Amino acid sequence: MREKTLIAPSVLASDFSRLGDEVEAVDRAGADWIHLDVMDGHFVPNIPFGPPVIKAIRNRTAKVFDCHLMIAPADPYLAAFADAGCDIITVHAEAGPHLDRSLQAIRALGRKAGVSLNPSTPENVIEYVLDRLDLVLLMTVNPGFGGQAFIPSVVEKVRRVKAMIGTRPIRVEIDGGVTAETAPQLAAAGADVLVAGSAVFRGDGVDAYRKNIEAIRTAADLAVGRIV
Ligand code: DX5
Ligand code: ZN
Repeated sequence: MREKTLIAPSVLASDFSRLGDEVEAVDRAGADWIHLDVMDGHFVPNIPFGPPVIKAIRNRTAKVFDCHLMIAPADPYLAAFADAGCDIITVHAEAGPHLDRSLQAIRALGRKAGVSLNPSTPENVIEYVLDRLDLVLLMTVNPGFGGQAFIPSVVEKVRRVKAMIGTRPIRVEIDGGVTAETAPQLAAAGADVLVAGSAVFRGDGVDAYRKNIEAIRTAADLAVGRIV
């Protein structure tokens, strides 16, 4: 039996004027990881926050900081994100010509290494770096913004990536348009971790966030017959 589906709330959908409190609230609400969406206004058309802000909220939770870099180039900034307290650092395969080098650099910093693929990127780009990976993050929206519609064709890619991974200890994480409605097909296809922004930061405070997180996790776990 697989472990329960991990839920990684994306703080992109939180109230930035109270970011530290929001992180603490989703921690208390049962978040497994805290998903941090870093953008550069170049690789994607948005610029929410960077390493100093991540560093400032690091002491508000002991949960895993799951850092999703939507920046190009990424390599010059990897050390800054490691220093800021990110536990997992994920780069986009499309963001640079030397994915293997980026993944080596992340592990050399003592962090877990992830690769993210846009919805249109075929999964074979990770074939020769599988042994350098701790995480594959499949986008189910085009990166840049929260609250977008889920792209269902990626569900098939989840299955294929799962098959490529085989028995390697690599988690498959899904990002974009995750709700209690879309979670079951993702879990059934093999997703281990679900990122959710707008579906978690809805309503006010810990109790609402807890209900939102549990609705997604329960929907996912029921779909694969896990005890919930
Ligand atoms: C999009 C980000 C996502 C985003 C998800 O570029 O990578 O993490 O916050 O937001 P929702 O869950 O609202 O689609
Ligand atoms: Zn993300």
